[in-house]
Amino acid sequence: MTTEKLYVSKNIRLKPRLWLRDVSSSKHIALVSEAGAWRRFGSGVEKALKVAGYKVHRHLLPSGEAAKNWDAIADLLGTMLAAGLGRDCALVALGGGSVTDAAGFAASIYLRGIPWVSVPTTLLGQLDSGLGGKTGINLAGGKNLAGTFHRPRAVVCDPAVLATLPDRERVSGLGEALKYGLVFEPALWAMITSHWDELMAGDPALTAKVVERCAAWKRHIVDQDERETKGPRELLNFGHTLGHALESAAGLGVLRHGEAVIWGMRAALRLSHERAGLKAAFAAEADRFLSTIPVPLPRRVEPKRLLALAHRDKKARGGRARFVLLHAPGRPAVMTVSDSEILRAVREIL
Ligand SMILES: NC(=O)c1ccc[n+]([C@@H]2O[C@H](COP(=O)([O-])OP(=O)(O)OC[C@H]3O[C@@H](n4cnc5c(N)ncnc54)[C@H](O)[C@@H]3O)[C@@H](O)[C@H]2O)c1
Ligand SMILES: [Zn+2]
Repeated sequence: MTTEKLYVSKNIRLKPRLWLRDVSSSKHIALVSEAGAWRRFGSGVEKALKVAGYKVHRHLLPSGEAAKNWDAIADLLGTMLAAGLGRDCALVALGGGSVTDAAGFAASIYLRGIPWVSVPTTLLGQLDSGLGGKTGINLAGGKNLAGTFHRPRAVVCDPAVLATLPDRERVSGLGEALKYGLVFEPALWAMITSHWDELMAGDPALTAKVVERCAAWKRHIVDQDERETKGPRELLNFGHTLGHALESAAGLGVLRHGEAVIWGMRAALRLSHERAGLKAAFAAEADRFLSTIPVPLPRRVEPKRLLALAHRDKKARGGRARFVLLHAPGRPAVMTVSDSEILRAVREIL
């Protein structure tokens, strides 16, 4: 598979001639979205596509996690088939991570795979979930348990669409962005933490900068390890072992993904100090910052339940949970961590 082209600029969503160039030879496009994103941006993108000469076949998925199930995928594939779309057509996914995950999945299996373009409309989507090619749906047994690797040909990040984001979606995206800072680029961590209020207020230039840096890191890492078999891609999971556990324990949709990651990073910073030599002063300073971000902690989360969920994490090996830890900001390593160490870190934070 090839690296996705990355476009970050104001109103780029309205310039499909640019980002659809070279994607497919057909003029037929499946435009896939959900009600929230469609209401705000759908008709603009649809019109721009039509003006550029494309024939648009629109399909709306259910909103949020409801997009990520077999029925929703079957409906979308049915729409595409009824429209007579061939293997030379392309799919454009317009929405948050739930739309790009589900629509990307449909693109990967329709007629054994067609090209697609991701147009993420959430901050999390633009800097992380809208690129890298992990597509998928949820099963009754848990989130993201069925899916494919199918990279979009292009990722179209328009800072203008983020103006309407609610605060919690912004926190969720910035939480994931802080991860990129801690793991790969300490200067990015410093930039986000020192401009937090402006970023929360939606400052367009700063937000675009954060999107650009994180998306560039994600692409760089995915290029080295597309299927998470060689190591580098695992590093993107800093804060995610316990973050995912908390997300599941809270119940689907209760915590935003990045909110859970913020919490998971607090635990990972403690473990990094204990196990990987991260300096106490930095661990404490970073924890102090993360603890000031308003993240709703679900009440009565049982530490032992989080531990059990951490063991189900795909990184667990031989009964010991695996964590991405930091020797120092920008110097990550994957290490196994004992149950008692995990429980201690969790109890200190809950
Ligand atoms: N594939 C990956 O690598 C990857 C990585 C992380 C997360 N994910 C997945 O991403 C999903 C979460 O995505 P998400 O956080 O983007 O949320 P989402 O797609 O569920 O969207 C959240 C809400 O925001 C609304 N919305 C979308 N754009 C908006 C805008 N510009 N202004 C106002 N409201 C807007 C939507 O209507 C929706 O109600 C999860 O399913 C998660 O598993 C995937
Ligand atoms: Zn994440």
